[in-house]
Amino acid sequence: MDVTLLDALSPDPIALPLIAALSRTGRPRVHHRLRAERFATCQGCFECWIAHPGLCKVRDATNDVLKDAVASSEVVWALRPRFGCWDASSKQALDKFLGLLHPFFEPVDGETHHKARYDQNPRLGVVAVVDEEVSEADRARFLCVVARNALNLHQPAPWVAFVAPDATADELADTIAAARATTLRAFPTLPPFSPPPGVGVLALEGARPRRALLLVGSAKARGTSTSEAIGQALLERLAAFGWDTATAHLAELVKLGRADVQELQELLESVDLCILATPVYVDCLPALVLAALDRLGAAEVWERRPVLLPIVQCGFPELSHTVLALEVLAAAAEARGLSWGGHLACGAGPALEGRSLAEPNGPATHVVHGLDLAAAALDRGEPVPVEATAEFGTSTMPDWLYRTMGNVGWVARAWQHGAAFSLGERTLAPS
Ligand SMILES: Cc1cc2nc3c(=O)[nH]c(=O)nc-3n(C[C@H](O)[C@H](O)[C@H](O)COP(=O)(O)O)c2cc1C
Repeated sequence: MDVTLLDALSPDPIALPLIAALSRTGRPRVHHRLRAERFATCQGCFECWIAHPGLCKVRDATNDVLKDAVASSEVVWALRPRFGCWDASSKQALDKFLGLLHPFFEPVDGETHHKARYDQNPRLGVVAVVDEEVSEADRARFLCVVARNALNLHQPAPWVAFVAPDATADELADTIAAARATTLRAFPTLPPFSPPPGVGVLALEGARPRRALLLVGSAKARGTSTSEAIGQALLERLAAFGWDTATAHLAELVKLGRADVQELQELLESVDLCILATPVYVDCLPALVLAALDRLGAAEVWERRPVLLPIVQCGFPELSHTVLALEVLAAAAEARGLSWGGHLACGAGPALEGRSLAEPNGPATHVVHGLDLAAAALDRGEPVPVEATAEFGTSTMPDWLYRTMGNVGWVARAWQHGAAFSLGERTLAPS
């Protein structure tokens, strides 16, 4: 079997028996140690679709990894899941797998996905190191995340092997062989998100003026992301009620190679409400957001904890694509002892680009209503009401129309880069 190993464990010693175990079924053809290689944070520019199809413009390890993946029959990831999701190092690499897809939208089992760029795609396998503290709910979520990734990335018959941190090479080999002999349950779509009972939905208390911080999870340049535009629109409404407001970008506060997020922690401790506005990347949260959640202090070290209000939006028209990101945020909020201030989520985020979010208009109509309702409730000290969440998540156009307009949009954007006729280029296909 032709395997590419994407190892987010080394230099942790657990990686050694794992490599030995994998070698028993044929040594991996390539072994990337993800924590030692450089993966720049995905900037969400889509140039790997519209400017140089199939290739990332950044000179980091991405294109080598993609080339190896395309030439393999199986890609095996090795990692320690966090909050029932990929850890930040492996997600940093996974977020850059976009080049394996074709930009065109297509319907799959009633949901929107992208076409595959290549005819053959490697099988997706994950060796997930979990200790006894990892809950059943987190394990179940991780299986769902991987199954959804496989669907989105056209990687067939996904498997996950959960292994203990002290597993021997023999035990690892047996567990991997058993996992490889199975295929994960498919999750063609997901039911709407509802916060788990363990997460306290808490009203805002304390003296006025209240303070709100907008944390932008998109790594796009300041002032250019949809996440920032929506978050800013909510901040402006709160400011109109007399709140003190501030904005910070995770891309400036979180460095992947550094564990320290002191500045972020202090910022959060200084506010009543944290609005975390983020896009969906590869079915879940971007690596940047996962890194921030991972590094924030445990519940007991916080001097003062803000209420968390996530705003999640995604590029496909269906709301179901935001569910896993919200579930991971809820799990992280529970682990960090943060209260949940309700949530806002919508599909078709790119339809909002360049639109005013001050007054209802076109595709922004429901989003604007949702923001108005949310701001009024927050100012009363209440969490975002279900009516605001429902309004915000209501789609303004049929999914087929969004897909059609989106596909025309990809061609138009590629045209500007002289790439309109090479959108589907199989750039990294083995010759
Ligand atoms: C690397 C990457 C992965 C993405 N993966 C998904 C996905 O799995 N599902 C989805 O609906 N949208 C996905 N999107 C689309 C973004 O969520 C969408 O374009 C969003 O509006 C970007 O928000 P921003 O402007 O705040 O960055 C992805 C975008 C990028 C750049």
